[in-house]
Amino acid sequence: MAATTLHIAPTDPDPSFAELIAGRPHLSIHALDGLLVEEVPLARIAAEAGTPTWVYSAGALRRRARALQAALKGAGLQAGIHYAVKANTSLAVLRVLAAEGLGADVVSEGELRAARAAGIPASAIVFSGVGKTEREMRLALAEDILQLNIESAEEAEMLSAVAASMGRRARVALRVNPDVDAKTHAKITTGLTENKFGVPIAMAPELYGRMCGLPGLDPVGLTVHIGSQIAQGVASYRAAYQRLGQLVRELRAAGHPVHRVDCGGGLGIPYRDETPGSPAALAGAIKAGLGDLGVKIMLEPGRWICGPAGVLLTRVIVEKHATTRRFVIVDAAMNDLLRPAMYEAWHGILPVSPNAFHAPLSPADVVGPVCESSDTFTRNRDLPALPPDSLVTFLDAGAYGASMSSTYNARPLAAEVMVEGARFVVIRERQSYAALLEGQRLPDWTG
Ligand code: LLP
Repeated sequence: MAATTLHIAPTDPDPSFAELIAGRPHLSIHALDGLLVEEVPLARIAAEAGTPTWVYSAGALRRRARALQAALKGAGLQAGIHYAVKANTSLAVLRVLAAEGLGADVVSEGELRAARAAGIPASAIVFSGVGKTEREMRLALAEDILQLNIESAEEAEMLSAVAASMGRRARVALRVNPDVDAKTHAKITTGLTENKFGVPIAMAPELYGRMCGLPGLDPVGLTVHIGSQIAQGVASYRAAYQRLGQLVRELRAAGHPVHRVDCGGGLGIPYRDETPGSPAALAGAIKAGLGDLGVKIMLEPGRWICGPAGVLLTRVIVEKHATTRRFVIVDAAMNDLLRPAMYEAWHGILPVSPNAFHAPLSPADVVGPVCESSDTFTRNRDLPALPPDSLVTFLDAGAYGASMSSTYNARPLAAEVMVEGARFVVIRERQSYAALLEGQRLPDWTG
């Protein structure tokens, strides 16, 4: 499987600190204060909120939401953006995006509740996911959300029965698996026949017809999502949307209503040196495949919106020199940022101290304190000397960072901070040790 965009120890030279900063407009270096997010020194955040801490730029979130909206509008598409809540479930992030007019794409009761709690109207919420429980279906119907995306014939029957028992008809889109290779990491490819998602495109006409006859369903269209971190242009999107366009025509010819096409998410970001398609190129692919059908277009981006907007701020515990290797052991770990351990993902690493940007570099492995060899953020990265208490940031950690955290090794969930201009606010407190142990019971007989 092609994994060209995700790699812990690539052979070509890493981007320099200056290049990493230049590509991220919310980051800059101040001669005295060191690395800033917007106008706030990360050293100040570390001093006041501790480490490890996720830091999000509200300005970057807004800029990115607007850029995506502008690209869709520029292509003349009537389109709604439903932010994929799984990428970052923080209520403050959701609220910033809601204020920009974004809806939500949710995949669980928890995400639905988070979206509602952040003020996203039910009429702007789509429920995706391959295994919705009856309880989740009931909640979605009771809230009267915009649409549920159906992943199988079995799920269609189940949802119809649930809706009918409530005297409702669920607005549904059928998730089609177009058998298109998104050319991303195998663990985040979803549009191939071998993946568990959606129904094979060849089966879609028959199933859509059947869904139109089910008492509890109101089929409104189709949905597709071929993978995540799609970083090799938009050719695979083009192929998928062409196939979807043909399917829309076929369904209509058979007399079925098709009002909407949900085009999924997946647009990649440059973590290292990738050159993903731009929002304009994505909008062009949508227009080419679906533009003349008069369907309402929906999009479910997650990473593209919030990935670059966040960093994980961490503190060096100790540098360990063993045999020929230099290990920088930091206080963040794989339980915080799982992506390197899980996908061998490459994240930019920047020091925070202003002096560190001019210091000599030497290769280091940056690792966390968790008792697993996979608790390795990078190998052989050129970094300055990082004595104990130095601060370090992992870049592009705003998506699938905090939302994939765990408390493995009984490590509390890290704090989350949002920066706006010259101010910052803790938007989620660091989990307390009391909260970490909360909810557990000690039956007498265990003693
Ligand atoms: N819609 C559906 C149905 C999805 O399954 C996903 C992501 C999205 C939208 C949003 O995709 P995005 O625009 O964020 O690529 N944990 C992995 C990524 C898993 C993506 C799962 N589905 C990572 O850290 O790379």
